[in-house]
Amino acid sequence: MTEKIRVENLVKVFGRNSKAVLKKLEKGITKEEILKKTGNAVGVNNVSFEVNEGEIFVIMGLSGSGKSTLIRCLNLLNKPTAGKIFFEGEDIVKYNKKQLREFRQNKMAMVFQHFGLFSHRTVEDNAAYGLEVKGAPKEERLRIARETLETVGLGGWGDKMPHQLSGGMQQRVGLARALANDPDVLLMDEPFSALDPLIRRDMQLELLDIQDKVQKTIVFITHDVNEAFKIGDRVAVMKNGKIVQVGTPEEILSNPANEYIEDFIKDIDRSKIMQAKNVMFKPSPLLFNKDGLKVAIKEMETNGISSLFVVDKGRKLQGLITIDDTINAIKEGKTLNDIIQRDYFTTDPETYVQELLPIASETKFPIAVVDQSNKLEGIIVRASVLAGLV
Ligand SMILES: Nc1ncnc2c1ncn2[C@@H]1O[C@H](COP(=O)(O)OP(=O)(O)OP(=O)(O)O)[C@@H](O)[C@H]1O
Ligand SMILES: [Mg+2]
Repeated sequence: MTEKIRVENLVKVFGRNSKAVLKKLEKGITKEEILKKTGNAVGVNNVSFEVNEGEIFVIMGLSGSGKSTLIRCLNLLNKPTAGKIFFEGEDIVKYNKKQLREFRQNKMAMVFQHFGLFSHRTVEDNAAYGLEVKGAPKEERLRIARETLETVGLGGWGDKMPHQLSGGMQQRVGLARALANDPDVLLMDEPFSALDPLIRRDMQLELLDIQDKVQKTIVFITHDVNEAFKIGDRVAVMKNGKIVQVGTPEEILSNPANEYIEDFIKDIDRSKIMQAKNVMFKPSPLLFNKDGLKVAIKEMETNGISSLFVVDKGRKLQGLITIDDTINAIKEGKTLNDIIQRDYFTTDPETYVQELLPIASETKFPIAVVDQSNKLEGIIVRASVLAGLV
Protein backbone atom coordinates (compact mmCIF):
# COMPACT_ATOMS: atom_id res chain seq x y z
CA MET A 1 0.00 0.00 0.00
CA THR A 2 1.34 3.42 -0.93
CA GLU A 3 0.60 6.34 1.32
CA LYS A 4 -0.87 9.29 -0.58
CA ILE A 5 -1.78 11.76 2.16
CA ARG A 6 -0.57 11.91 5.73
CA VAL A 7 -2.02 14.33 8.25
CA GLU A 8 -0.14 14.91 11.49
CA ASN A 9 -1.55 16.68 14.53
CA LEU A 10 -3.72 18.96 12.46
CA VAL A 11 -5.52 21.75 14.29
CA LYS A 12 -7.84 24.35 12.76
CA VAL A 13 -9.10 27.16 14.93
CA PHE A 14 -11.24 29.88 13.39
CA GLY A 15 -11.14 33.52 14.36
CA ARG A 16 -8.56 36.02 15.56
CA ASN A 17 -5.51 35.07 17.51
CA SER A 18 -6.05 31.43 16.73
CA LYS A 19 -2.51 30.38 17.67
CA ALA A 20 -3.15 31.49 21.25
CA VAL A 21 -5.91 28.90 21.44
CA LEU A 22 -3.45 26.04 20.78
CA LYS A 23 -2.10 26.16 24.33
CA LYS A 24 -5.60 25.99 25.73
CA LEU A 25 -6.36 22.92 23.59
CA GLU A 26 -3.16 21.26 24.78
CA LYS A 27 -4.28 21.80 28.36
CA GLY A 28 -7.47 19.95 27.52
CA ILE A 29 -9.82 22.92 27.69
CA THR A 30 -12.95 22.01 25.72
CA LYS A 31 -14.24 23.52 22.47
CA GLU A 32 -17.26 24.91 24.27
CA GLU A 33 -15.20 26.67 26.95
CA ILE A 34 -12.87 28.13 24.33
CA LEU A 35 -15.78 29.44 22.30
CA LYS A 36 -17.24 31.05 25.43
CA LYS A 37 -13.97 32.58 26.61
CA THR A 38 -12.26 33.71 23.40
CA GLY A 39 -14.94 33.47 20.73
CA ASN A 40 -12.76 31.10 18.67
CA ALA A 41 -14.45 28.11 17.04
CA VAL A 42 -12.36 24.96 17.05
CA GLY A 43 -13.01 23.07 13.80
CA VAL A 44 -10.39 20.33 13.96
CA ASN A 45 -8.53 19.43 17.12
CA ASN A 46 -5.28 17.47 16.80
CA VAL A 47 -6.14 14.97 14.11
CA SER A 48 -3.73 12.45 12.54
CA PHE A 49 -4.40 9.84 9.85
CA GLU A 50 -3.20 8.71 6.48
CA VAL A 51 -4.97 8.00 3.20
CA ASN A 52 -3.60 5.29 0.94
CA GLU A 53 -3.39 5.49 -2.81
CA GLY A 54 -6.49 4.14 -4.52
CA GLU A 55 -8.66 3.86 -1.43
CA ILE A 56 -11.97 5.46 -0.61
CA PHE A 57 -11.38 7.06 2.77
CA VAL A 58 -14.61 8.15 4.40
CA ILE A 59 -14.86 10.79 7.10
CA MET A 60 -18.08 10.37 9.03
CA GLY A 61 -19.51 12.38 11.89
CA LEU A 62 -22.47 14.40 13.08
CA SER A 63 -23.13 17.96 11.99
CA GLY A 64 -20.50 20.31 13.40
CA SER A 65 -17.99 17.54 14.14
CA GLY A 66 -15.43 19.15 11.83
CA LYS A 67 -15.66 17.10 8.63
CA SER A 68 -15.83 20.00 6.18
CA THR A 69 -13.17 21.92 8.08
CA LEU A 70 -10.89 18.90 7.81
CA ILE A 71 -11.44 18.19 4.11
CA ARG A 72 -10.94 21.87 3.29
CA CYS A 73 -7.58 21.70 5.04
CA LEU A 74 -6.48 18.96 2.63
CA ASN A 75 -6.43 21.40 -0.29
CA LEU A 76 -5.60 24.34 1.97
CA LEU A 77 -8.86 26.15 1.41
CA ASN A 78 -8.53 26.22 5.19
CA LYS A 79 -5.09 27.10 6.39
CA PRO A 80 -4.19 24.84 9.31
CA THR A 81 -3.51 26.57 12.61
CA ALA A 82 -1.02 23.84 13.48
CA GLY A 83 0.12 20.49 12.13
CA LYS A 84 1.43 19.01 8.93
CA ILE A 85 -0.19 17.67 5.78
CA PHE A 86 2.00 15.54 3.54
CA PHE A 87 1.05 14.80 -0.03
CA GLU A 88 3.27 12.10 -1.48
CA GLY A 89 5.73 12.90 1.28
CA GLU A 90 5.80 16.68 0.71
CA ASP A 91 4.49 19.06 3.36
CA ILE A 92 1.95 21.11 1.43
CA VAL A 93 1.33 23.54 4.30
CA LYS A 94 4.65 25.09 3.36
CA TYR A 95 3.72 25.65 -0.29
CA ASN A 96 3.94 29.17 -1.69
CA LYS A 97 1.10 30.63 -3.77
CA LYS A 98 2.36 29.30 -7.09
CA GLN A 99 3.00 25.80 -5.78
CA LEU A 100 -0.40 25.80 -4.18
CA ARG A 101 -2.17 26.85 -7.36
CA GLU A 102 -0.46 24.10 -9.33
CA PHE A 103 -1.23 21.61 -6.60
CA ARG A 104 -4.93 22.48 -6.62
CA GLN A 105 -5.12 22.43 -10.40
CA ASN A 106 -3.35 19.14 -10.92
CA LYS A 107 -3.48 17.00 -7.82
CA MET A 108 -6.82 17.51 -6.13
CA ALA A 109 -10.36 18.18 -7.21
CA MET A 110 -13.43 18.82 -5.11
CA VAL A 111 -17.03 17.71 -5.57
CA PHE A 112 -19.55 19.75 -3.60
CA GLN A 113 -22.80 18.95 -1.85
CA HIS A 114 -24.85 21.36 -3.94
CA PHE A 115 -23.10 20.46 -7.19
CA GLY A 116 -21.72 23.98 -7.72
CA LEU A 117 -22.42 23.97 -11.45
CA PHE A 118 -22.49 27.11 -13.60
CA SER A 119 -26.12 27.50 -14.59
CA HIS A 120 -25.37 29.51 -17.73
CA ARG A 121 -22.91 26.95 -19.13
CA THR A 122 -23.76 23.75 -20.94
CA VAL A 123 -23.05 20.43 -19.29
CA GLU A 124 -20.01 19.99 -21.52
CA ASP A 125 -18.63 23.43 -20.69
CA ASN A 126 -19.16 22.74 -17.01
CA ALA A 127 -17.19 19.50 -17.30
CA ALA A 128 -14.46 21.31 -19.22
CA TYR A 129 -14.20 24.16 -16.72
CA GLY A 130 -11.08 23.02 -14.87
CA LEU A 131 -9.22 22.43 -18.11
CA GLU A 132 -10.24 25.87 -19.32
CA VAL A 133 -8.77 27.43 -16.16
CA LYS A 134 -5.59 25.50 -16.82
CA GLY A 135 -5.49 26.95 -20.33
CA ALA A 136 -6.08 23.76 -22.31
CA PRO A 137 -6.95 24.36 -25.99
CA LYS A 138 -10.67 24.30 -26.74
CA GLU A 139 -10.65 21.16 -28.84
CA GLU A 140 -8.70 19.19 -26.27
CA ARG A 141 -10.82 20.27 -23.33
CA LEU A 142 -14.07 19.47 -25.11
CA ARG A 143 -12.77 16.06 -26.13
CA ILE A 144 -11.76 15.26 -22.55
CA ALA A 145 -15.03 16.68 -21.20
CA ARG A 146 -16.99 14.39 -23.54
CA GLU A 147 -14.93 11.36 -22.53
CA THR A 148 -15.41 12.11 -18.85
CA LEU A 149 -19.14 12.64 -19.27
CA GLU A 150 -19.19 9.22 -20.90
CA THR A 151 -17.39 7.75 -17.86
CA VAL A 152 -20.04 9.09 -15.49
CA GLY A 153 -22.87 7.83 -17.69
CA LEU A 154 -23.82 11.14 -19.29
CA GLY A 155 -22.71 10.54 -22.84
CA GLY A 156 -24.98 12.56 -25.14
CA TRP A 157 -26.03 15.13 -22.51
CA GLY A 158 -23.19 17.56 -23.20
CA ASP A 159 -25.22 20.27 -24.93
CA LYS A 160 -27.96 20.44 -22.26
CA MET A 161 -28.08 23.08 -19.55
CA PRO A 162 -27.75 21.98 -15.89
CA HIS A 163 -31.39 22.80 -15.03
CA GLN A 164 -32.52 20.30 -17.67
CA LEU A 165 -30.92 17.49 -15.63
CA SER A 166 -32.12 15.71 -12.50
CA GLY A 167 -30.23 16.15 -9.23
CA GLY A 168 -28.40 12.84 -9.61
CA MET A 169 -27.38 13.76 -13.15
CA GLN A 170 -26.22 17.20 -12.05
CA GLN A 171 -23.99 15.62 -9.46
CA ARG A 172 -22.57 13.37 -12.16
CA VAL A 173 -21.62 16.55 -14.00
CA GLY A 174 -19.93 17.74 -10.81
CA LEU A 175 -18.05 14.47 -10.71
CA ALA A 176 -17.13 14.71 -14.40
CA ARG A 177 -15.82 18.23 -13.89
CA ALA A 178 -13.59 16.98 -11.08
CA LEU A 179 -12.40 13.95 -13.06
CA ALA A 180 -11.72 15.89 -16.27
CA ASN A 181 -8.60 17.39 -14.68
CA ASP A 182 -7.36 13.88 -13.99
CA PRO A 183 -6.48 14.71 -10.38
CA ASP A 184 -4.78 12.20 -8.06
CA VAL A 185 -7.27 12.82 -5.29
CA LEU A 186 -10.98 13.52 -5.29
CA LEU A 187 -12.36 15.37 -2.29
CA MET A 188 -16.11 14.85 -1.92
CA ASP A 189 -17.95 16.77 0.79
CA GLU A 190 -21.37 15.13 1.31
CA PRO A 191 -21.82 14.84 -2.45
CA PHE A 192 -25.03 12.82 -2.29
CA SER A 193 -26.82 14.34 0.67
CA ALA A 194 -28.90 16.70 -1.47
CA LEU A 195 -30.30 13.74 -3.44
CA ASP A 196 -33.42 11.79 -2.58
CA PRO A 197 -32.83 8.37 -1.03
CA LEU A 198 -33.34 6.17 -4.12
CA ILE A 199 -31.17 8.32 -6.36
CA ARG A 200 -28.67 8.47 -3.55
CA ARG A 201 -28.38 4.69 -3.41
CA ASP A 202 -27.89 4.55 -7.19
CA MET A 203 -25.17 7.17 -6.98
CA GLN A 204 -23.31 5.25 -4.26
CA LEU A 205 -23.13 2.18 -6.50
CA GLU A 206 -22.34 4.35 -9.50
CA LEU A 207 -19.42 5.90 -7.62
CA LEU A 208 -18.05 2.44 -6.86
CA ASP A 209 -18.34 1.50 -10.55
CA ILE A 210 -16.65 4.71 -11.64
CA GLN A 211 -13.92 4.17 -9.06
CA ASP A 212 -13.30 0.72 -10.58
CA LYS A 213 -12.61 2.48 -13.87
CA VAL A 214 -10.64 5.53 -12.71
CA GLN A 215 -8.87 4.20 -9.58
CA LYS A 216 -8.50 7.54 -7.80
CA THR A 217 -7.75 8.22 -4.19
CA ILE A 218 -11.01 9.50 -2.74
CA VAL A 219 -11.73 11.33 0.50
CA PHE A 220 -15.48 11.19 0.99
CA ILE A 221 -17.52 12.90 3.67
CA THR A 222 -20.88 11.79 4.94
CA HIS A 223 -22.94 11.80 8.09
CA ASP A 224 -24.78 8.68 6.99
CA VAL A 225 -23.27 5.60 8.60
CA ASN A 226 -24.78 3.20 6.04
CA GLU A 227 -23.32 5.25 3.18
CA ALA A 228 -19.96 5.39 4.95
CA PHE A 229 -19.77 1.65 5.43
CA LYS A 230 -21.06 0.85 1.98
CA ILE A 231 -18.49 2.83 0.04
CA GLY A 232 -15.57 3.27 2.45
CA ASP A 233 -12.49 1.06 2.30
CA ARG A 234 -11.68 2.72 5.61
CA VAL A 235 -13.79 5.04 7.72
CA ALA A 236 -12.73 7.72 10.22
CA VAL A 237 -15.38 8.70 12.75
CA MET A 238 -15.19 12.30 14.00
CA LYS A 239 -16.61 13.85 17.13
CA ASN A 240 -16.00 17.39 18.39
CA GLY A 241 -13.13 18.01 16.00
CA LYS A 242 -11.34 14.78 16.86
CA ILE A 243 -11.12 11.39 15.20
CA VAL A 244 -12.56 8.79 17.54
CA GLN A 245 -11.77 5.70 15.47
CA VAL A 246 -10.30 4.79 12.08
CA GLY A 247 -10.68 1.37 10.52
CA THR A 248 -12.30 -0.77 7.87
CA PRO A 249 -16.06 -1.14 8.27
CA GLU A 250 -15.49 -4.70 9.52
CA GLU A 251 -12.95 -3.55 12.09
CA ILE A 252 -15.22 -0.85 13.42
CA LEU A 253 -18.23 -3.15 13.53
CA SER A 254 -16.44 -5.98 15.25
CA ASN A 255 -14.36 -3.78 17.52
CA PRO A 256 -16.00 -0.41 18.27
CA ALA A 257 -13.55 1.83 20.16
CA ASN A 258 -16.09 3.10 22.69
CA GLU A 259 -19.74 3.66 23.48
CA TYR A 260 -19.99 6.59 21.11
CA ILE A 261 -19.05 4.38 18.17
CA GLU A 262 -21.31 1.59 19.42
CA ASP A 263 -24.17 4.03 19.41
CA PHE A 264 -23.29 5.21 15.93
CA ILE A 265 -23.28 1.75 14.40
CA LYS A 266 -26.31 0.29 16.08
CA ASP A 267 -28.58 1.03 13.13
CA ILE A 268 -26.26 -0.52 10.59
CA ASP A 269 -27.49 -3.47 8.60
CA ARG A 270 -24.54 -5.72 9.35
CA SER A 271 -25.54 -8.51 7.02
CA LYS A 272 -24.76 -6.19 4.12
CA ILE A 273 -21.26 -5.45 5.40
CA MET A 274 -20.05 -8.62 7.03
CA GLN A 275 -18.76 -11.20 4.60
CA ALA A 276 -18.21 -14.94 4.96
CA LYS A 277 -14.56 -14.33 5.75
CA ASN A 278 -15.52 -12.11 8.70
CA VAL A 279 -17.65 -14.70 10.42
CA MET A 280 -15.90 -17.97 9.53
CA PHE A 281 -13.85 -20.05 11.93
CA LYS A 282 -10.53 -21.64 11.23
CA PRO A 283 -11.32 -25.00 9.69
CA SER A 284 -10.40 -27.19 12.58
CA PRO A 285 -10.75 -29.98 13.34
CA LEU A 286 -10.42 -31.53 9.91
CA LEU A 287 -10.00 -35.06 8.69
CA PHE A 288 -7.27 -35.65 6.15
CA ASN A 289 -8.31 -38.39 3.77
CA LYS A 290 -5.30 -40.47 4.79
CA ASP A 291 -6.61 -40.59 8.38
CA GLY A 292 -8.74 -43.50 9.45
CA LEU A 293 -12.28 -43.55 10.79
CA LYS A 294 -11.06 -44.03 14.36
CA VAL A 295 -9.24 -40.72 14.16
CA ALA A 296 -12.45 -39.18 12.86
CA ILE A 297 -14.46 -40.44 15.84
CA LYS A 298 -11.85 -39.18 18.26
CA GLU A 299 -11.81 -35.71 16.66
CA MET A 300 -15.58 -35.44 16.76
CA GLU A 301 -15.76 -36.65 20.37
CA THR A 302 -12.98 -34.35 21.59
CA ASN A 303 -14.55 -31.34 19.94
CA GLY A 304 -18.13 -32.20 20.71
CA ILE A 305 -19.27 -32.04 17.09
CA SER A 306 -21.32 -34.41 15.00
CA SER A 307 -19.79 -33.92 11.54
CA LEU A 308 -16.36 -33.37 10.09
CA PHE A 309 -15.03 -31.98 6.81
CA VAL A 310 -12.57 -34.16 4.93
CA VAL A 311 -9.69 -32.60 2.99
CA ASP A 312 -6.67 -33.81 1.03
CA LYS A 313 -3.03 -32.93 1.67
CA GLY A 314 -3.42 -29.52 0.08
CA ARG A 315 -6.53 -28.83 2.20
CA LYS A 316 -8.79 -29.22 -0.86
CA LEU A 317 -12.29 -30.06 0.28
CA GLN A 318 -13.27 -33.70 -0.39
CA GLY A 319 -16.49 -34.07 1.53
CA LEU A 320 -18.06 -34.48 4.93
CA ILE A 321 -18.77 -37.35 7.30
CA THR A 322 -21.19 -37.59 10.22
CA ILE A 323 -20.61 -39.27 13.56
CA ASP A 324 -23.50 -41.73 13.06
CA ASP A 325 -22.22 -42.89 9.69
CA THR A 326 -18.70 -43.21 11.06
CA ILE A 327 -19.73 -45.37 14.00
CA ASN A 328 -21.79 -47.61 11.72
CA ALA A 329 -18.97 -47.81 9.21
CA ILE A 330 -16.56 -49.08 11.84
CA LYS A 331 -19.08 -51.70 12.98
CA GLU A 332 -19.77 -52.83 9.43
CA GLY A 333 -16.14 -52.65 8.20
CA LYS A 334 -16.83 -49.87 5.67
CA THR A 335 -14.27 -47.28 4.57
CA LEU A 336 -14.19 -43.47 4.52
CA ASN A 337 -15.08 -43.56 0.84
CA ASP A 338 -18.30 -45.46 1.57
CA ILE A 339 -19.66 -42.80 3.90
CA ILE A 340 -18.24 -39.51 2.60
CA GLN A 341 -21.01 -37.21 1.43
CA ARG A 342 -21.44 -33.88 -0.27
CA ASP A 343 -24.77 -32.79 1.11
CA TYR A 344 -23.56 -29.42 2.44
CA PHE A 345 -23.33 -25.84 1.21
CA THR A 346 -20.16 -24.05 0.14
CA THR A 347 -19.50 -20.35 -0.31
CA ASP A 348 -16.59 -18.15 -1.26
CA PRO A 349 -14.99 -15.83 1.33
CA GLU A 350 -16.36 -12.64 -0.25
CA THR A 351 -20.03 -13.59 -0.07
CA TYR A 352 -22.08 -11.27 2.12
CA VAL A 353 -23.65 -12.76 5.22
CA GLN A 354 -26.99 -11.49 3.96
CA GLU A 355 -26.85 -14.07 1.16
CA LEU A 356 -25.96 -16.82 3.61
CA LEU A 357 -28.95 -16.23 5.87
CA PRO A 358 -31.38 -18.48 3.96
CA ILE A 359 -28.74 -21.21 3.70
CA ALA A 360 -27.91 -20.99 7.39
CA SER A 361 -31.49 -21.57 8.38
CA GLU A 362 -31.80 -24.59 6.10
CA THR A 363 -28.54 -26.50 6.44
CA LYS A 364 -27.84 -29.34 8.87
CA PHE A 365 -24.08 -28.90 8.55
CA PRO A 366 -21.69 -25.99 8.79
CA ILE A 367 -21.15 -24.00 5.57
CA ALA A 368 -17.74 -24.63 3.97
CA VAL A 369 -15.87 -21.51 2.86
CA VAL A 370 -13.68 -22.44 -0.10
CA ASP A 371 -11.43 -20.45 -2.41
CA GLN A 372 -11.43 -20.77 -6.20
CA SER A 373 -9.30 -23.90 -6.09
CA ASN A 374 -11.71 -25.53 -3.63
CA LYS A 375 -9.28 -25.17 -0.75
CA LEU A 376 -11.10 -25.05 2.58
CA GLU A 377 -10.55 -21.58 4.07
CA GLY A 378 -12.97 -21.77 6.95
CA ILE A 379 -16.26 -23.04 8.22
CA ILE A 380 -19.33 -21.13 9.20
CA VAL A 381 -21.78 -22.42 11.73
CA ARG A 382 -25.35 -21.20 11.86
CA ALA A 383 -24.72 -19.33 15.10
CA SER A 384 -21.89 -17.28 13.62
CA VAL A 385 -24.05 -16.17 10.69
CA LEU A 386 -26.63 -14.94 13.14
CA ALA A 387 -24.00 -13.60 15.55
CA GLY A 388 -22.54 -11.59 12.67
CA LEU A 389 -25.73 -9.59 12.80
CA VAL A 390 -25.57 -8.35 16.38
N1 LIG B 1 -15.54 29.64 8.52
C1 LIG B 1 -15.79 29.36 9.79
N2 LIG B 1 -15.70 30.29 10.75
C2 LIG B 1 -15.93 29.99 12.05
N3 LIG B 1 -16.26 28.77 12.49
C3 LIG B 1 -16.37 27.79 11.59
C4 LIG B 1 -16.16 28.01 10.20
N4 LIG B 1 -16.34 26.84 9.54
C5 LIG B 1 -16.66 25.94 10.47
N5 LIG B 1 -16.68 26.50 11.70
C6 LIG B 1 -16.96 25.80 12.97
O1 LIG B 1 -16.16 24.62 13.04
C7 LIG B 1 -16.91 23.54 13.57
C8 LIG B 1 -16.94 22.39 12.59
O2 LIG B 1 -17.71 22.75 11.47
P1 LIG B 1 -17.74 21.93 10.11
O3 LIG B 1 -18.44 22.75 9.10
O4 LIG B 1 -16.39 21.46 9.80
O5 LIG B 1 -18.64 20.68 10.55
P2 LIG B 1 -19.22 19.49 9.65
O6 LIG B 1 -18.85 18.24 10.35
O7 LIG B 1 -18.81 19.65 8.25
O8 LIG B 1 -20.78 19.71 9.81
P3 LIG B 1 -21.97 19.49 8.73
O9 LIG B 1 -22.30 18.01 8.75
O10 LIG B 1 -23.10 20.30 9.30
O11 LIG B 1 -21.52 19.97 7.39
C9 LIG B 1 -18.27 24.08 13.92
O12 LIG B 1 -18.27 24.40 15.27
C10 LIG B 1 -18.39 25.33 13.05
O13 LIG B 1 -19.19 26.28 13.65
MG1 LIG C 1 -19.86 19.96 6.44
